[in-house]
Amino acid sequence: MTVAALPQTEAYQSGFGNQLASEARGGALPLAQNSPQRTPFGLYAEQLSGAAFTAPRAENRRTWLYRLRPTAAQPPYSPYVTPSRLVSGPFDKIAPSPNRLRWDPLPIPDHPVDFVDGLVTYGGNGDPSMAAGAAIHLYAANRSMANRCFANADGEFLIVPQQGRLRLATEMGLLSVTPGEIVVVPRGVQFRVELLDGTARGYIAETYGAPFRLPELGPLGSNGLANPQDFLAPVAWFEDDDRSHELVQKFQGRVWTTTVAGSPLNVVAWRGNLTPYKYNLAHFNTMGTVSFDHPDPSIFTVLTSPSDTPGTANCDFVIFPPRWMVAERTFRPPWFHRNLMSEFMGLVHGAYDAKAGGFAPGGASLHNCMSGHGPDAETYARAIAADLVPHKIEDTLAFMFETRWVIRPTPFAAETTLLQSDYDACWSDLPSVKL
Ligand SMILES: [Fe+2]
Repeated sequence: MTVAALPQTEAYQSGFGNQLASEARGGALPLAQNSPQRTPFGLYAEQLSGAAFTAPRAENRRTWLYRLRPTAAQPPYSPYVTPSRLVSGPFDKIAPSPNRLRWDPLPIPDHPVDFVDGLVTYGGNGDPSMAAGAAIHLYAANRSMANRCFANADGEFLIVPQQGRLRLATEMGLLSVTPGEIVVVPRGVQFRVELLDGTARGYIAETYGAPFRLPELGPLGSNGLANPQDFLAPVAWFEDDDRSHELVQKFQGRVWTTTVAGSPLNVVAWRGNLTPYKYNLAHFNTMGTVSFDHPDPSIFTVLTSPSDTPGTANCDFVIFPPRWMVAERTFRPPWFHRNLMSEFMGLVHGAYDAKAGGFAPGGASLHNCMSGHGPDAETYARAIAADLVPHKIEDTLAFMFETRWVIRPTPFAAETTLLQSDYDACWSDLPSVKL
């Protein structure tokens, strides 16, 4: 194991789920053991567990933190009173319909809103109290979090920036992400989000269940899709800031707040395999057919949160990146389909190849279990007439959060004026076949 001793700025360590170690002050990391009687500099040792102690070794996640103040030294939480559109399961406020839904982009607020207050839940399934299911949020913000941090005891956040770069200051260090990258913050990790471009918008999958991991590769072999070396964890960084800070926490679906003495981001050194990490989606090694037919989009899975049923995800994160289309005698966009799994889609930039319009960057669509969908009429007409020469889809990045359970919309998602009342019309011009 190497120890990355470094800086007050961003730097990264490579590898997915690796045992990593880092210290922001030379000699702060106990090298011979994890919990010595006396730590270097008298730092407080604290273990953060992201798995049951007895989870299989391949799934076990934990990190030892060596910090200026233990997390335990905090006053009681009280309910967070700022109006919030952040909602958790059970998603039972309205009855879900089998209708296809599509939304215009979430606007940037016209008054000061930071990342936490800019979270808007569109839907989800399951329940954090049962550690199963997922929630889907968007965020739109126009100011950095200042003097306050957020932590989520209910699940892990997979953040997909769509507009505006973010800098995440976390207990384990600093991560900057730009649209086209993702960042994952494990359950419980305290962090602050700063906006590097003044405004920001994006999407979040929150898994109440298993943390995201790389999918198995099966017959693909040992290479392809997302490669472990492209996942980047931060190096240790801390704030020696004695001013009081607000700590906002989501716990069992409710938001709570307390005021702590000093910045919660006071970890001087750490060692373990539970860390935030980021990944540039441009590094995804996209696979596809080189003969004929349209492969299922599971071939584009970047990360998966498995459920207890093999092959049936609690939540998959799937992307539709730039790629060559070469299939012969084939309808190249997705054909019409009805799936067991429920699909929430977003668009980072460009255009999605199965829709000619209406699905804008920052917008979203929801096709739930057994809801028929597919190419719109214009895309269909174009695809059946296409000259099937090799063609590269460029300048686009769409993605899908796919889950085994129906995504039940929140009242916001069902009632907002962003919801497109005419979405079904994109298929209404498909004529009946006359034999
Ligand atoms: Fe679909």
